[in-house]
Amino acid sequence: MGNINNKEELISKHNKYIMPSVHVSYKEPLCIKKGEGEYLYDLDGKKYLDFYTGIMVIVSGHCNKKVTDAVSAQIKELQHSTSFFINIPVVELAEKLAKITPGKLQQSFFVNSGSEAVEGAINLAQIYTGKDTVIGLQHGYHGRTLLTKTLTAISVWREGQTNISNIRYTPNAYCYRCNFNSSPDRCDMACARYLEEVIQTQTKGEIACVVAETIQGVGGLIFPPKDYFKIIAEITKKYGGLLIIDEVQCGMGRTGNMFAIEHYDVEPDIIAMAKGLANGFPIGVFISTEEIASCFYGPSVSTFGGNPVSCAAASANLDYIFENKTIENSKKIGRLFEEQLMLLKEKYKIIGDVRGKGLFWGIELVKDLKTKEPASEETEEILQYCKDEGLLIGECGDYFHVLRLGPPLNISEEKAYEGIKILDKAISKLNFK
Ligand SMILES: Cc1ncc(COP(=O)(O)O)c(C=O)c1O
Repeated sequence: MGNINNKEELISKHNKYIMPSVHVSYKEPLCIKKGEGEYLYDLDGKKYLDFYTGIMVIVSGHCNKKVTDAVSAQIKELQHSTSFFINIPVVELAEKLAKITPGKLQQSFFVNSGSEAVEGAINLAQIYTGKDTVIGLQHGYHGRTLLTKTLTAISVWREGQTNISNIRYTPNAYCYRCNFNSSPDRCDMACARYLEEVIQTQTKGEIACVVAETIQGVGGLIFPPKDYFKIIAEITKKYGGLLIIDEVQCGMGRTGNMFAIEHYDVEPDIIAMAKGLANGFPIGVFISTEEIASCFYGPSVSTFGGNPVSCAAASANLDYIFENKTIENSKKIGRLFEEQLMLLKEKYKIIGDVRGKGLFWGIELVKDLKTKEPASEETEEILQYCKDEGLLIGECGDYFHVLRLGPPLNISEEKAYEGIKILDKAISKLNFK
């Protein structure tokens, strides 16, 4: 731990030397020392079952041996290259991504984060189409650069300048709180079709792209119905734009497919990824078709993009996912989550909605089932109780009122039950107050 000797000193120096805008969870911050498989350990050696995985990053478990071995070998061979020189891990990874992404996506541009991947994808779409208007979805989250923060449509994450002028927003498919007062049994997908209205009334009738998370993570684990993206893709194409799918959070096997968009029978023009790709090593990438990519000969560069260590980690992580069939496991354990979380919904009236697929689950908490008033304080209490009992889960949604669950894809049935049991206990405590 270098020259820092205890938790109190660590927190006090964090407060002194790290900017306060860096959000820290829990009243008493969690200070992490070690990760192993599905567990994290704090400075006092207390063990936590990790159902949050560093915001959906650790898809293959903490300090996964295959990834660690690949990184250790690479670190001794070559640690940095820049995109001006070609290194083996970046090309090997690009080839793997071309094989696993849907449709004709073939050529990658490597960067360092999800924000950068989305921003790079938008830039490519603008160059390809020669247009500059970008349309995002309500409740979308895309990052913290000026462009991706402006594109983000969740107030709490937009603080500071959000003044890029060529951005418009179209409704997402938030069925639990439908903007169009519809319900699944009589839904005519007005939310998806509204995109045409946005283009006709708020643009000159020409767009560069529509950018959408397949499943909105930070927005509250919002899963659109089956036809949503087909309609969005058709309208986007009709007006000359590209469809950019942001899989930064929901990709890499989390929903039971390698990419969540594969649940929707739609071929995006560009996919942005990051988070789970390298199981904890910093990386971002956007991938597109050869035709689209070849409209931009640059020059463009990323000093750290395509870093050989991060790329070696990502390659090993993908190999691990396939060799161990962890996407199949995510589907299988996902069914257990569905069954168990639906039981919790029946049991507790604070649970307004349960949504998920694979190992990506949201539990929307409301003070009243009729008014659907968000239960933010209660969400906070549940998170705190779970932490005390040794379970880490996340929160999301406009009002931090949705519990976000995303364990590693290789979690066992036993650990899945163990975590859900703690969650059950946490909600029951709250209900007895
Ligand atoms: C869907 C989505 N896109 C983009 C980002 C930004 O990624 P990063 O924090 O790596 O810049 C995030 C981060 O949470 C995200 O969830």
